Order: sequence, then C-alpha cells, then structure tokens
Amino acid sequence: MTEPIDLAALPEDFAWGVATSAYQIEGAVAEDGRAPSIWDTFSHTPGKVDGGHHGDTACDHYHRWREDIALMKELGVTSYRFSLAWPRILPGGDGPVNRAGLDFYSRLVDALLEAGITPNATLYHWDLPQALQDRGGWPARETAEHFAAYAEVAAKALGDRVPLWATLNEPLCSAWIGHLEGRMAPGLSDITAAVRASYHLLLGHGLATRALRAAAPGAQVGIVNNLSTVEPASASRADLAAARRADGHTNRWWLDPVHGRGFPADMREVYGVDLPERPGDLDAIAEPLDWLGLNYYFGVRVADDPHGPHPFARQVPRPGLPRTGMDWEIDASGIEALLTRLTDDYGARRLYVTENGSAYPDTVRPDGTVHDPERVAYLRAHLAACARAARGGAPLAGYYAWSLLDNFEWAYGYDKRFGLVHVDYATQKRTVKGSGRHYAEIIAGHRRRA
Ligand code: NOJ
Repeated sequence: MTEPIDLAALPEDFAWGVATSAYQIEGAVAEDGRAPSIWDTFSHTPGKVDGGHHGDTACDHYHRWREDIALMKELGVTSYRFSLAWPRILPGGDGPVNRAGLDFYSRLVDALLEAGITPNATLYHWDLPQALQDRGGWPARETAEHFAAYAEVAAKALGDRVPLWATLNEPLCSAWIGHLEGRMAPGLSDITAAVRASYHLLLGHGLATRALRAAAPGAQVGIVNNLSTVEPASASRADLAAARRADGHTNRWWLDPVHGRGFPADMREVYGVDLPERPGDLDAIAEPLDWLGLNYYFGVRVADDPHGPHPFARQVPRPGLPRTGMDWEIDASGIEALLTRLTDDYGARRLYVTENGSAYPDTVRPDGTVHDPERVAYLRAHLAACARAARGGAPLAGYYAWSLLDNFEWAYGYDKRFGLVHVDYATQKRTVKGSGRHYAEIIAGHRRRA
C-alpha cells in the first residue's frame, strides 16, 4: 500500500492516463448506423461469454461520454486512450463512410481537448465488422487493405486533433485467442487461420501506419502489444526450449517483424504454416514507429508439453505469488523487465504502458464508497516498477491504467471489474473507487513536482 514510487524518475510531461475500448464500454450497438462486429456475433452465441453477457448496453458510454470525461477530469488524468469502432465508421468494413459514427468520436475528441486531456486513439480493439469476417476476416489479405483504408478515413476526420494513434491493440489476442484457442471472436481453432491472421494483422498495422501518416502528417503512431516475461520451469533442455517457444509466441512474433527483423525463423518452424508473404510486405510491417505500447498484466513460467497446443509449452504456477480476481499472478517486476527489454533489445525511443490493471469483485458499501486496497497495492507496485525502469533509462512517456470504468471483460462478461470507477450496471451509476482517488493523488503529487 505504501510502496514508494520514484516520481522524480518520470518526465515532467508524463502522460497520466486511463484506457478503455469501444465494444467494452459504448453500448448503443444498433444506433446511428453502427453495424455488428464479430464481438456482437460472438457474445450473442450461446455459451461463448460467461453469464450470456454481451456489449449491447455495456457502460452506455455512447450516451454518457460527457459524464465519463468529467470523471477523468476529477481524477486529474492528462491523457485518455480509447478505441474507435470500425463498424461505426465503416459499417460494411469498406465502402460508404457513416458520418454519424465519425461525429461521435469528433465530439468526444473536442470535449477531451476542452478538458485538457490528450486523446490517444486505437484503431482496432478487436471489433472487426462482421461483414469483413463474412468475407474471410483477418486470415484474408483484403482485411489488411481495408484496415488501411479505414485508417485513412479516421485520420482525415480526426487527425487534426488527435496527436497519438495506435493501429492494433494486442494482436496476439486477435490472432491466437480468436483463431487458435477459440475463446475470443471469431472463435476459431485453426492454426493455419491463426498464423495467416497474425500475418495480416501485422501487414494491416504497417499499411495503416503509412495511411495515417499520409492523411495526418503530424500523427504519432504506435502499436500496442501485450507482452509477458517468460521463465522456464526448470533448467532442463526441454523446459528451456519450451520457454524459448513461449517467448517467440508471445513476444518475438509481434516485436521482431515490426523492428525489421522478419518473422522469427524458429517459430515459423514450430507453427509449420507457410506465411502468405508477398514482396514488400516486410517493409510495410517494419514502417518505423513513433512509440511502442506495452500492455502488461502477468508473466509466465512454462514447462515443455509436446502434446499440448501451440507453442507446446504449458504454464505452471509460480508458488507464493498473490493473484488477482482473474487468477492472474501478480509480479510487478515483469513490467520493469519488459520496458527494459524494449529499450535495450529493440531500441525503443518512446514507450507507453498502454494498459495495466487488476480485477477484483468490488462492491459499493452502504456508505456509498468502494474500498479496493488490493487494486491500490497493485497500482502502486506497478507504478514503482515503471519508475525503476525509467530511472534505469527506459524512455517511458506515460502510463494508462486499465480501466477508467468497470466494463465488458470479453469472454468473462461483467463480473470481472477492472475499473478505477465502479459501474452499477442496473442504474449506470458511476462511483469512484478508493483506487481512483489514490491514482488522483499520485498524479497530483507528480504534477506538484513538475
Ligand atoms: C487487455 C485488453 O486490451 C482489454 O480489452 C482487456 O479488458 C484487458 N486486457 C483486461 O483483460
């Protein structure tokens, strides 16, 4: 609770942020011309999401965005990371632009700027227009091309006011969890589809980066990856090789191509699927970036498992580590290790922690407050680790807490609460949690130094 945070290690203009994503908070899925995304389809498929939950209403942010910006102001955050819903802007995936969809984000951005909060917009946080899924989804090359066209539309409309852009959020989840493990939309279990999806996601990232820059020359473009530290369960040759594969699957597959190193040869062999390569693709994927985003939640310890699914490495628990309500092990040292790795091994010039946070079963007490000391401890431990990384030379420019609000936690539905602000879904009442107040104090403390 009282873990010291070396605030002096963070730059004066450090971005103190909160993050959300469109499908998780907006609701209003059939309003103003929005068409269904793969998550509408998936969440309405019986058995896919706990409790049969879906994003039809979510936090009703589409109607309550003014109130939500006021909450951000109350917390004192200086930047807001949100995502644009592709199916609001181009309901068919390509083809006609839906003005009403763009206007929603235009109003949001204007109000953020008015509140002194810097917008950081993510183009793709998993809500692929269903129409594009019906034409092959990410395993199809055309989806990458449509993604670049969508990036251009978004940048033309908002690029004069949005300085920070991310192409993809956690492509690892879209590719592996969506196409290999089947636990997220579109819910496939097919290694060929998964590898092809991973390739086209990264190609789409590169093409969209170029499109963004062409349409909004001042745009500062990055990509958001969820990375994990990986350690072997033992010093055996088999476990060391398993850890190498797990690191390839989780980290190198997403980082190497973007840094001009191509797709890792060892992992190509592990997957055994030909990549749908065409000349020039690797150059597009390696388009230089202004910043890298790290989403950090946990590290893993793995053991060899030749009969297990890709990458033939089984996660084993690390005894003694506390866990969050997601059952994820808490190890703040991992965020420091990953920020340092991005700096030392990939030459990162600007880094943001684009997500970090914890779920707990919070409730509103009779006195109207939400007491969440575990989240406060989690936040402090991770911020302290971020500051250590910065002190050690990592060019860390900001931190976005996941999340501003409790929201739709994908296949887990609404019972996993990550917010700094509690949401009562029956009434849509927002209550700032103890952790929200604590975050506000940390931010104020840093700003007083500046
Ligand atoms: C990462 C994802 O980007 C976000 O959508 C999700 O809610 C959090 N992790 C928590 O699982």
